[in-house]
Amino acid sequence: MARLTWHGHSCFLLETDDGQRILFDPFLDQNPASDIKADQVGELDFILVSHGHADHFADAIPLAKRTGATLVSSFEIVSFVQSQGVENAHPLSIGGGHTFDFGYAKMTPALHGGEVAGDESGKFTTMPGGWWLELNGGKRVYHAGDTALLTDMKLLEGQVDVALLPIGDNFTMGPRDAIRAVEFIKPRTVIPMHYNTWELIRQDPHAFARAVGSRAKVVVLEPGQSHDF
Ligand code: NI
Ligand code: MN
Repeated sequence: MARLTWHGHSCFLLETDDGQRILFDPFLDQNPASDIKADQVGELDFILVSHGHADHFADAIPLAKRTGATLVSSFEIVSFVQSQGVENAHPLSIGGGHTFDFGYAKMTPALHGGEVAGDESGKFTTMPGGWWLELNGGKRVYHAGDTALLTDMKLLEGQVDVALLPIGDNFTMGPRDAIRAVEFIKPRTVIPMHYNTWELIRQDPHAFARAVGSRAKVVVLEPGQSHDF
């Protein structure tokens, strides 16, 4: 059994069938929606960072240093974290993937902003991305990152078991476009993310679930809750 635990916003812990612990978009200490702080995460094998905004990246460097986990992200973000003393890091570019201990991870396109939080030099501006993972054993997870609706999502059709999709609107897709994303991707299960962290991205995830209807199973998590698949 693989397990996804939501820690609010876009931060998920993925525990794989073979015991690897992968954290997506660490944003815990300053995350008003999180159920835990960064020092409660436990051991990690990998940290996957979709883009450099603080609400996806804030705890990535300290967690990588504490746990020794390999931080996987864009070439520019990896260059930045290495400049800050992170030793284990692996760069990818959009459309490129690599086989890690847990399986294959590919960086998918996202239409969003490229600032890297903490980079005072301004040299590490990056392309934001998302993640398509094919875990050992075949389970496939898509973490969209922060993005607008993209027709490129059609390329994932039939290749996703669990899709983690932003629904908050304002900075990312809102519920209506997220439903179109579900139509494009046809995942088995959808877990909404990037909502209700702040008033500006307040949404009703249960209304979203009803609107998705029979297109996919929608699992609405509270921070700290898990979905096994
Ligand atoms: Ni962002
Ligand atoms: Mn964000």
